[in-house]
Amino acid sequence: MTQPVPMTMGQQFGRRSWAEPWKIKMVEPIKMIDRAGRERAIAAAGYNTFLLRSEDVYIDLLTDSGTSAMSDRQWAGMMLGDEAYAGSRNFYHLEAAVQNYYGYKYLVPTHQGRGAEHLISRSLIKEGDVIPGNMYFTTTRLHQELAGGRFVDVIIDEAHDPTNMHPFKGNVDLGKLEDVIQRVGAAKIPYVSLAGTVNMAGGQPVSMANVQALRELCDRYGIRLYLDATRMAENAWFIQQREEGYAGKSIAAIVKEFCSYTDGAWMSAKKDHLVNIGGWLAMNHEDLFEAASNLVVVYEGLHTYGGMAGRDMEALAIGIEEALQDDHMNSRIGQVLYLGELLTDWGIPIVHPVGGHAIFLDAKAIYPHVPQDRFPAQTLAAQLYLDSGIRAMERGVVSAGRDPATGDHRYPKLELVRLTIPRRVYTQAHMDVVAEAVKAVYDERNRVHGLEMVHEPKYLRFFQARFAPVQP
Ligand SMILES: Cc1ncc(COP(=O)(O)O)c(C=O)c1O
Repeated sequence: MTQPVPMTMGQQFGRRSWAEPWKIKMVEPIKMIDRAGRERAIAAAGYNTFLLRSEDVYIDLLTDSGTSAMSDRQWAGMMLGDEAYAGSRNFYHLEAAVQNYYGYKYLVPTHQGRGAEHLISRSLIKEGDVIPGNMYFTTTRLHQELAGGRFVDVIIDEAHDPTNMHPFKGNVDLGKLEDVIQRVGAAKIPYVSLAGTVNMAGGQPVSMANVQALRELCDRYGIRLYLDATRMAENAWFIQQREEGYAGKSIAAIVKEFCSYTDGAWMSAKKDHLVNIGGWLAMNHEDLFEAASNLVVVYEGLHTYGGMAGRDMEALAIGIEEALQDDHMNSRIGQVLYLGELLTDWGIPIVHPVGGHAIFLDAKAIYPHVPQDRFPAQTLAAQLYLDSGIRAMERGVVSAGRDPATGDHRYPKLELVRLTIPRRVYTQAHMDVVAEAVKAVYDERNRVHGLEMVHEPKYLRFFQARFAPVQP
């Protein structure tokens, strides 16, 4: 019998391979603890991967938030921290980077994304207001609710279907948005909350045509448009790949153009911007700048550091520049796509098309026998850890929380497990190991019966809830 000819990563999928635009200078050892140790660890964590100790994790795909590897230039920048209480030079470097790459006039720094969400929500939302957006995000919606508002989902229907191949599943459905405006009145809508890419939909992008049309609609009704820019650089890569007229434009140029249709943005710099901590709120309107600059001194720190050390702002300013390079983005999203290609070829149900920062396993399709109130995605994440020490996270009924009006679970259509790929951290070999682990868990799918929740915190329950296995 003849042996099959070995193929490179690219050849397997009929394309040319990409490679990382960097080489490794320092390594951090990791190890897989044995099966008995993993069983003890996940039971002690109440079957919630957020409650595992990182030392007990082999490959950590919990999140891409704050988990990036910084470059030598960023580490060099850490030594240039100006730790003055007020007016640090690193703040001015950061301000210039945001103005230059995102194009907004004013900047308010914050310790991370939810700090910025808090400031914009408290500054603009009044009791009884409605905030339409392209699918909820956990912390974003909670801050909107705590400020007295109600989030209304106006994403296109395709976003709720994990098999639909729409190239821009993050798009706003303009008809749905106009219905909301006509129902509640423009005066009750402080802003439209647009995210690029959409995390909870599977990292799905918004098209340039959609944001242009959205701008026109908002202008017609005098409504502001603010962007969650957390993964906007990744969104730009999809526009470059998929939208007519953008193939020859750089990621940086696409980000700048997209932002020009919005009035400002909030940012968790822990994602796109390749730093371990940091965030910001930026805007063109002076009234929001004034309100947020005032609130930042109450909740974050002075308006020239907002909860970050000077050295963190320096690493962030450098990270912004690196994040918007085309070669970085080609390898960053290339790695995510590679894992998606393997799982797709093996017939494992995942959200399609593959998004920018993660592979989302479709837990409903993998465990059709586990009802949603037995937490199929939470169960799948626990099984993956048990199999091989890989840590993923639930994005389904647990993350969706309870409806504040009825107190019932919210049952999202998507019941997913997110395998989130940190930036510049793992290799292609790690992706192979992850794919094999997912396959092993998939092959054992009929032996699993779900979980029950035995402890439920009031806010953002997915972080700290505890579970126990259900017997058949
Ligand atoms: C889309 C999106 N917005 C906002 C946030 C909140 O940012 P942070 O975790 O830095 O508070 C996150 C974090 O996961 C996010 O993914």
